[in-house]
Amino acid sequence: MTPELDAWRTRLAALAAAVAQADAGASDGAHDANHLERVWRNARALLPDHPHADALTVLAACYLHDLVNVPKNDPRRSRASRLSAELARRELAALAFPPAKLDGVAHAIEAHSFSAAIPATTIEAQIVQDADRLDGLGAVGLARMFYIAGRMGSALAHGADPLAAARPLDDRAYALDHVPAKLALLPGMMQTAAGRRVAERRLALLEDFRSAFADEWAGGATAAPE
Ligand SMILES: [Fe+2]
Repeated sequence: MTPELDAWRTRLAALAAAVAQADAGASDGAHDANHLERVWRNARALLPDHPHADALTVLAACYLHDLVNVPKNDPRRSRASRLSAELARRELAALAFPPAKLDGVAHAIEAHSFSAAIPATTIEAQIVQDADRLDGLGAVGLARMFYIAGRMGSALAHGADPLAAARPLDDRAYALDHVPAKLALLPGMMQTAAGRRVAERRLALLEDFRSAFADEWAGGATAAPE
């Protein structure tokens, strides 16, 4: 990372922390400063495949993409990324961020969100979207999934049919249903080739976990050997 990029990383992390502190009710353990760091690290790993992508635009969007955090079960949820983009524009202008990059940062922030359904039309927005979605997969994604489900009051899984063999999926009611209902779709929605490879690897871990979970749920893993 260049010294200039590193200096911006420090400023952007401080800005995100200040906004989060001013709105303490909005931040949570799945969308905190550690999430922003992980998203930026994911994005950094994707950048070398895309040398024409602007690293500062990606960096700013990674740190500011969740500036306005709206809970999943809130009707304003689909507007959260637009609100984050507007707030990021104002805050970045006050920090004398390069004005020519503001549109690119705002687009990457708006387009990162699943619920906003805004197509990511720049490589920077595509990298940020992939980087954020990668944090929903793998071991950390699994921890975040149960954390968010807990905050929404969901059950761990359906009592008699945890794998939804004979019922429709319902990931609001059952946390485990979130794997097939949404997370399993993410590798196919990745915008970069490297993002897709990592997503597939991380999804495999979730699917193994889901099978082991269902086995234990049914008493299989604790049954005495015959
Ligand atoms: Fe995020």
